[in-house]
Amino acid sequence: MTMPLRCLARTAAAGLVAVAALTAAGHTAEAEAADTLGSAAAGQDRYFGAAVAANHLGEADYAATLDREFTSATPENEMKWDATEPSRGSFTFAAADRVVDHAQSRGMDVRGHTLVWHSQLPSWVGTLGAADLRTAMNGHINGLMGHYKGEIHSWDVVNEAFQDGGSGARRSSPFQDRLGDGFIEEAFRTARAADPAAKLCYNDYNTDGVNAKSNAVYAMVKDFRSRGVPIDCVGFQSHFNSASPVPADYRQNLQRFADLGVDVQITELDIEGSGSAQAADYTKVVDACLAVDRCTGITVWGVTDKYSWRSGGTPLLFDGDYRKKPAYDAVLTALGGSGDPGDPGDPTVSCTAAYTRTADWSSGYNGQVTITAGDAPISSWTATVTVPSPQSVSSLWNGTPTWTGNVMTVRPSWNGTLAAGASTSFGFTVAKNGSGAAPTVGGCTAS
Ligand code: G3I
Repeated sequence: MTMPLRCLARTAAAGLVAVAALTAAGHTAEAEAADTLGSAAAGQDRYFGAAVAANHLGEADYAATLDREFTSATPENEMKWDATEPSRGSFTFAAADRVVDHAQSRGMDVRGHTLVWHSQLPSWVGTLGAADLRTAMNGHINGLMGHYKGEIHSWDVVNEAFQDGGSGARRSSPFQDRLGDGFIEEAFRTARAADPAAKLCYNDYNTDGVNAKSNAVYAMVKDFRSRGVPIDCVGFQSHFNSASPVPADYRQNLQRFADLGVDVQITELDIEGSGSAQAADYTKVVDACLAVDRCTGITVWGVTDKYSWRSGGTPLLFDGDYRKKPAYDAVLTALGGSGDPGDPGDPTVSCTAAYTRTADWSSGYNGQVTITAGDAPISSWTATVTVPSPQSVSSLWNGTPTWTGNVMTVRPSWNGTLAAGASTSFGFTVAKNGSGAAPTVGGCTAS
């Protein structure tokens, strides 16, 4: 049942050719302006991608930021073994399909993550004996790659198979422990047969500089290349923070892998920190990739700090309100692009004011004005209320009024600071003095 579903999706995608062409044209137009990450990277013959979570695609700002800035998508969890084959031979692709369909309909490439990994592995895999495990591993690769055949730019075929630390040893896992070192080669051979068009990558972390772990991966890739084991690329996850900073020999390390005849990709970039220090670190990474011809693209591990697996470390390019951070500007600049302060990615500071009458009696009424911040946070607001003659305002709360004739200008008392989209309100009591007419609320201005 799975293939027909994907075939339908492909048919639908074919029906969207016009949309895709428009998107592509949009990217071309943007490439001239190079005012997004994707268009600037395209100007350097590279992609710029993000890890994408299916359950956030319904959030308008999330989807808008993804669609505007990125030219590649990696499902963050949806293609992992526990998500796609929770019980043996029973594949579920709904969440991964959502990410793939979204990306395809917007002209993005998709990175497949990941086929064989010790983590997020359903428990049934760990119970199998060697022969059965080999069959299950190959069955999983065939099931997943078959479903997406022809639709995935690069697959992380094997993920994180080497131990941290100084030994350069393989990591213990059901695959390593039962099948030995050869499981990696077997996974790559199975993957090549399953989808010959996809680039096949080995992907790992703490391999970003020259060290024992990257040396061990390097030796494996060199061996694969010399024996004709199919491998096309090496992914460098690049999760950085103060304990694990961008290595000084990052470029040199990428280059030595590239010199083996494989592409290199930065696959899960995030750098904890903020401000100019974080921006400078991002610049180092982009500069390193641009200095290596075979560094074909960069993926950041999420769209917004709000949903990062390291959200406390604010490691991404957009903050929790989807505002561009200094790190964003640094990446765009390093890619040769240039920001436009007035572009749609920079939400303007704004607010709206809405009036309701909350109580009414024969001699008076209570009015309330709700102030709502626009797409950007605000630190203050001003609203005007014209009170029709002969009415008079007898009291006002949650605001500070000044008067010009019968026009009341209200500023915050304690409630000036609002997050993007957040609201506050002030209220007032009016003596009708014979007129029940409604007041008029003028515009809201924010700073
Ligand atoms: O979706 C469930 C939710 O229903 C439940 O309530 C919640 C309770 O814990 O868990 C949610 O699932 C979490 C999932 O992320 C989605 O948010 C899992 O617990 C959590 O373990 C999982 O973490 C993922 C992690 O891989 C697992 O190893 C991160 O999102 C994901 O960013 C991270 O990605 C890895 C790469 O695949 C490989 N390289 C390292 C990278 C960072 O750890």
